[in-house]
Amino acid sequence: MNILVTGAAGFIGFHLASALLRAGHRVVGLDNLNAYYDPALKRARLAALPEGDFQFIEADLAEGESVQAALAGERFDVIVHLAAQAGVRYSVENPQAYTRSNIQGFLTVLELARHNAGLRHLIYASSSSVYGANRKLPFAVTDPTDRPVSFYGATKKANEAMAYAYASLYGIPATGFRFFTVYGPWGRPDMAPYLFASAIIEGRPIRLFNKGEMARDFTYIDDIVAGLMAAIDRPPVPDEAGVTHRLYNLGNNKVEPLRRFVAVIEQAAGRPAIIEEAPMQKGDVRQTHADIDDTRRDFGYDPATPIDIGLPRFVKWYRRYKGL
Ligand SMILES: NC(=O)c1ccc[n+]([C@@H]2O[C@H](COP(=O)([O-])OP(=O)(O)OC[C@H]3O[C@@H](n4cnc5c(N)ncnc54)[C@H](O)[C@@H]3O)[C@@H](O)[C@H]2O)c1
Repeated sequence: MNILVTGAAGFIGFHLASALLRAGHRVVGLDNLNAYYDPALKRARLAALPEGDFQFIEADLAEGESVQAALAGERFDVIVHLAAQAGVRYSVENPQAYTRSNIQGFLTVLELARHNAGLRHLIYASSSSVYGANRKLPFAVTDPTDRPVSFYGATKKANEAMAYAYASLYGIPATGFRFFTVYGPWGRPDMAPYLFASAIIEGRPIRLFNKGEMARDFTYIDDIVAGLMAAIDRPPVPDEAGVTHRLYNLGNNKVEPLRRFVAVIEQAAGRPAIIEEAPMQKGDVRQTHADIDDTRRDFGYDPATPIDIGLPRFVKWYRRYKGL
């Protein structure tokens, strides 16, 4: 198939593009290689893609016309939209980056989908952040998501509404996946797994927010990619209103206290963490936990990687990448 992957130089986009290439698909990867974190890591990911039919387009999704011009004449079977301004904490500092990439950029993707004759499936990334202040655990896709506690979460919630509207208006088969704290080799330097592991390996202190009294449903990248790969060829059936849009959680369904997470990194790194305690951050939530029953049922999704296996793999990759 001919597949467009936005955010292909990003953490999840790179891993998905790799899997698609290995499966023999043609992949067009689009990314603006922005400097939210070191673009050298994004370029290194692109350089590490496996052999295959891959074309890279450097373009900013917030500039719809130039994206359309860059993709003129292309017709995709599937679009997987992973490009976004990610990160809960940065959305306090720079909310504009989120409206630009996540709202304007997402509209560009929806318009591409609308005018792409014969599109079989639009898959896009949402986030566990849409659950915001919810107390009921595990988080289920049928739970209300009207109380985001970060602007990032609000933009992801907006994406779900935008995708539903386009599916309803134009019959676009669309599936949104709410990812739960993804980690693994080539991971994101702004996220806790990378921040903690790099600091512990290099003997720098780590900051444990809310005294480490937090817990996350950490999901290993290979499990996320397996879920996305299983969904590629399974567009949604119409809902009771005849709309081809569905939402799923993509998590590990296993909650890990942050302290245990740190302990597993300490063991893999062979060094103790130097811990500094810090107050709870604005926009953060205390715990996440994905209900993945629907994802299992519809895609055979079966996350198989505990942090005891995933974190040592990350530490190994980090050492190799940094030459440590
Ligand atoms: N990693 C996680 O734990 C996690 C959790 C929940 C949701 N998500 C979502 O999954 C998706 C992928 O996340 P990731 O962890 O790979 O993040 P990432 O930042 O590594 O990848 C996103 C990529 O999108 C690109 N991008 C951003 N704005 C763009 C724009 N306007 N035009 C073109 N490219 C643009 C960036 O350069 C980056 O390479 C995002 O939508 C993110 O919000 C990730």
